[in-house]
Parts: sequence; C-alpha cells; structure tokens
Amino acid sequence: MSQVASNSTELFAQVMDPANRANPYPLYERLRATPVARLDDGFYAVSTYPEIAALLHDPRAGKDQRKSEVSVGARGVSPTPPFLFLDPPEHDHLRALVMHQFTPERVNAMHNRIVGIVNELLDARRDSQELDVVDDLAYPLPVTVICEMLGVPREDEGRFHEWADILAHSLDPEPGEDMEAEALRARQEITPYMLDLVQKRREHPEDDLISALAVNNDPEGRMDDANLITTLVLLLIAGHETTVNLITNSSLTLLRNPEELARLHEQPERIIRVVEEVLRYEPPVQFAQRYALADIEIAGTTIPKGAGIRLIFGSGNRDPQQFVNPDHFDPDRPDNQHFGFGGAVHYCVGAPLARIEAQIALTALFHRLVQPRLKVDPPPYRPNAVLRGPRHLPVTFERMQ
Ligand code: HEM
Repeated sequence: MSQVASNSTELFAQVMDPANRANPYPLYERLRATPVARLDDGFYAVSTYPEIAALLHDPRAGKDQRKSEVSVGARGVSPTPPFLFLDPPEHDHLRALVMHQFTPERVNAMHNRIVGIVNELLDARRDSQELDVVDDLAYPLPVTVICEMLGVPREDEGRFHEWADILAHSLDPEPGEDMEAEALRARQEITPYMLDLVQKRREHPEDDLISALAVNNDPEGRMDDANLITTLVLLLIAGHETTVNLITNSSLTLLRNPEELARLHEQPERIIRVVEEVLRYEPPVQFAQRYALADIEIAGTTIPKGAGIRLIFGSGNRDPQQFVNPDHFDPDRPDNQHFGFGGAVHYCVGAPLARIEAQIALTALFHRLVQPRLKVDPPPYRPNAVLRGPRHLPVTFERMQ
C-alpha cells in the first residue's frame, strides 16, 4: 500500500488508486473512523454498516441523476434511464413488470443448461495444466446464459458479447473518451437490433424473456418500446461485469483458504454458504451511488439536498459493529446480512441467477481440477474500483477430470 493518509478525501483517493486494488480493506477500516465523510469532490462517503443500511432504506437517498445537482460528466443523462437509475414510483412499476417475468422458475429452469455451458467451457482446457478462471470460465459464462434467457438467436450471440462488453465497460466511473464513442456506437447498433427482435417475438412469441416482456399481458400495464429496450439492455449488461467477479473472487478466496476447499470437497452443499460469504468478504460491487433528494442528517453530519452519496458496501461488509471477526473468511457465519446485492428497493434483480451461476461454476471447477494452485498471488486486478475483481486468475493443476 502507498503512503499513509490522514483525512477521508486522501483515504478515498487511495481507495481509487489502482495500486491498492488488491486489498482496499485496511483503507476502509480507517475510513470507518468517520462514518459519513464529506469528500473534496462534494460527495459523501458512507463506510459503516448501520449508516449504509439506513440510507439504503431512506427514500430521501434517491438514484435518479436528473434530480441531482452533481455533474454527471460528458456522458450526460439518458432520456430513458433504466430502472436501476430511477426512483419510486417510476422505478417500482418497471421493476415489477420485470420481476413478474424474471421468476425463480425461469431461473431454475436454466440449471441444467448452466451445467452444460460450464462443462463445455472447462472441456476446452481439458488437455492443459493451466487455465485462466476469468477468460476461460467466469467471463464467458454470464453473457452466454443471459443471451439464452433473453432469447437472443445463437448466431447473433457473438455480436451481443461484443455489445455487452462495450456497454458494461462504459459504466466505469472513468471510461475514457474512446470508450464513450464506442458505447454510443454500440447503443446505436443494439437499439434497432433489439426493436427488430421485439417485433419478431410479438408476431411469433417463444418461451424466452424478450417474448414475455414484449407480449406483456401484465395486469399492471405494459412497457413502451423505449423502456422495453433500455430494460432489455440493462438485463443484458447488469450481470456481465459482476458475476465474473463473484466467480473469480470466490475461486481466489478458496485457493487462499485450502482448509475451506477441503471442506467443500467433503460437503459440496457448502458451496451455498461459501458464495454467500464471498458476497460479504469480497463483494463484486464495492460501492453504489445515491443523491440526497432532501437534507439528510445522519451520524452527526447533514448531507445537503443535491449532494452525491457513495455507499461503500465493501466497507460496510467488514464493519465489526455488524460482523464478528470481519476480516476472517467464515462460511459458517450466522445471520450473514451482507450488502453484496445491495438492499431495499434496488436489491439486485439478478441475485438468484448470479447465485446459481456461481454455485454451479465453482462446484464444477473445484470438482474437476486436480490439485489446483494459484499461479500468482495477488493476481493482476482490473482498474475499476467499483466493479472490483482480478483481470486474470491463472490457476495450474495436475490434470482435469
Ligand atoms: C442491482 C449486484 C448480477 C440485474 C444490483 C445492485 C447490486 C447488484 C449491488 C444494487 C445497486 C444499487 O443499490 O445501487 C450484483 C452482483 C451480481 C449481480 C454482485 C453478480 C454476482 C446481476 C444479474 C442481473 C442483475 C445476473 C440480471 C440478469 C440487476 C438489476 C438491478 C441490479 C436489474 C437494478 C435493480 C433496481 O434498481 O431495482 N445488482 N448484481 N444483476 N442488478 Fe445486480
């Protein structure tokens, strides 16, 4: 870690510094000395569990950038933001229409198919003694799964992978000018493509999510085409840069904790608890943004109306006020109410899908690899501080069964 910082602005700058990406947790510990801290950029950093929980449930902490006074940079605000960036009641209406179709039954129906995709991906490395958990498994899996759930024709999946990559990267806090131009191009291409697919499914519905949302006999109403397209794009990309980190962070944590890996071999059902504890211990989404829709008094500080707020989930998840021995990876931890999928009205819609993808991928990976070992520790990280995870995770093994 680089030099010692004293105030919250300096500490937060160190959190953002890619040099500290492999282990931001000691910095979070120091940030928690000031639960709600005003940073020099006007944002308020919230780092303690009770305060994050309170703000997640506080309707005065909104998500709609159109109501805030914070500059959103060159990207501007979309005229039809996806419901992730809307507040109730608009948010609740669109989210409900999605939830009525993105059901546990539809997710569970994917189980065998996910097993098949995971095995196909692993089989491609069968004759090797090394694989990259990111490129060979964790990255291709979620986008293949969501394409199949949406009902993207297989021959177009390649184009979707590319669009999903570009659009997901464009969500980085500092995507760079080239990425913004690329994202604009991807949006211009994906919109007419999606509209065409929607029209086709209206004429000939199939058993997929695009048909379910496009035909839409929901008693609560129907989405207009603009909202339908942004929602479909949100579903395509929301699980893209997140699930990859859940699978990769879990693999890294298990390989660093061989006794937990051994217990998993003996009791494969422990994978459920392992994934849940990784969502606390190494959450793929480290912060979320909110805007104060009114003055909010919290922990002795007033967040003024219009200010931006950063809820630091990765820090709340290590707060000793909530978790005993928080820096210890303990899948047996009781009452693990982590912020891995956020909370309250914006709680992750894809949580059940992300959970089964990670559980299936990790079960297969550690069942099939004989004597797996990390090739480098710490691995190289991607620069993004919010969607945090290794860029590569090379693992060597004796053989694959
Ligand atoms: C929201 C995490 C996978 C769809 C969220 C939020 C978090 C999160 C923290 C809340 C953001 C906030 O409060 O500002 C994750 C993680 C994932 C994952 C860690 C994987 C491990 C997925 C997948 C999908 C998805 C696979 C869909 C296919 C969404 C949507 C929202 C959301 C639509 C917005 C919900 C709303 O605003 O009401 N996710 N997510 N996520 N997630 Fe996920």
